[in-house]
Amino acid sequence: MSLEENFPILTEKLTKKFDSFTAVNNIDLTIKKGEIFGFLGPNGSGKSTTIKMLCGILEPTSGKASVLGYDVYTDAEKIKERIGYMSQKFSLYEDLTVDENLEFYGGIYQVPSDQIDQRKEFVLEMADLKGRERELTANLSVGWKQRLALGCALLHQPELLFLDEPTSGVDPLSRRHFWDLLNEMAEEGKTIFVTTHYMDEAEYCYRLAFIFEGRIIALGSPQEIKKTMKEKVFQIQCDQIDRAFQILNQFPQLEEVLIHGANIHIVGAKTDLVKNLIPALLKENKINLLQIKSIEPSLEDVFVSLIGREAREKIRKEFLPCEPPLN
Ligand SMILES: Nc1ncnc2c1ncn2[C@@H]1O[C@H](COP(=O)(O)OP(=O)(O)O)[C@@H](O)[C@H]1O
Ligand SMILES: [Mg+2]
Repeated sequence: MSLEENFPILTEKLTKKFDSFTAVNNIDLTIKKGEIFGFLGPNGSGKSTTIKMLCGILEPTSGKASVLGYDVYTDAEKIKERIGYMSQKFSLYEDLTVDENLEFYGGIYQVPSDQIDQRKEFVLEMADLKGRERELTANLSVGWKQRLALGCALLHQPELLFLDEPTSGVDPLSRRHFWDLLNEMAEEGKTIFVTTHYMDEAEYCYRLAFIFEGRIIALGSPQEIKKTMKEKVFQIQCDQIDRAFQILNQFPQLEEVLIHGANIHIVGAKTDLVKNLIPALLKENKINLLQIKSIEPSLEDVFVSLIGREAREKIRKEFLPCEPPLN
């Protein structure tokens, strides 16, 4: 197999500028065939811009990118024919029925007429939309719209799929079901590039990259990324969790305080500070402390810790150019 067959997405220093603003900054990616690759980052970090460049919708400013062996600068039309793309807004026609949306996308993707019925049947089964063919798309729940949009992107059986925040605004059960579908597709050999800002979904990816302010700040499997974390994470169990969070979060020496499910996580603080200060602070405020322990970081902890460090470095560069590093 050639390099392009093993690696359907390859980029080198891929960059997009809007005037003087750099939205995507020197990104290197090597996406393997058959993997679910997650692209995670907060709003405005450059996820959609990256996807649009890879789909041949937006020309890069500089750098290289090949998708299924095609160059994004010169072969954008070929790329568009071969990939599936689900945009952040789902791009469904609300005033068309489910069946009409499928017909429409079948036409766009030039699905041969002797195959369209079979492909529509597959999508209706997958999306659990059997019996709803004549319903107006506007009347579907967000979870169903999401699966219909995925189905539309799959009508022409692409081997590479780009999904831009497919689970935004979708309820947790539908999100779970959606990830099951993605896993089935990856097992069949499809490659999936998916963006999300839900940290819990990062765990479902084979590999992922964290993107922040246009740059990749971590890349690897969830396990590999967790191993890069040097700072300690403490988990606190207590009652009145919201009040406890408010109090701890205001305390300047605790830089990163996060609510994580029913617990609080403290990232990057010194052990003796945590062990002495927190019990005293909580006691003073009549909050019942149940447990403090050092734990394995979650991906969210890693991300917050990296962003914290990145932001600190940026501030240092911008405001203290002559000072030595703080730590
Ligand atoms: N067409 C555009 N013109 C100018 N700025 C843009 C354009 N598209 C995106 N941006 C800016 O680029 C940054 C990254 O945007 P985007 O890729 O949409 O982020 P994300 O998808 O991660 O939320 C944002 O600051 C956004 O405002
Ligand atoms: Mg986006």
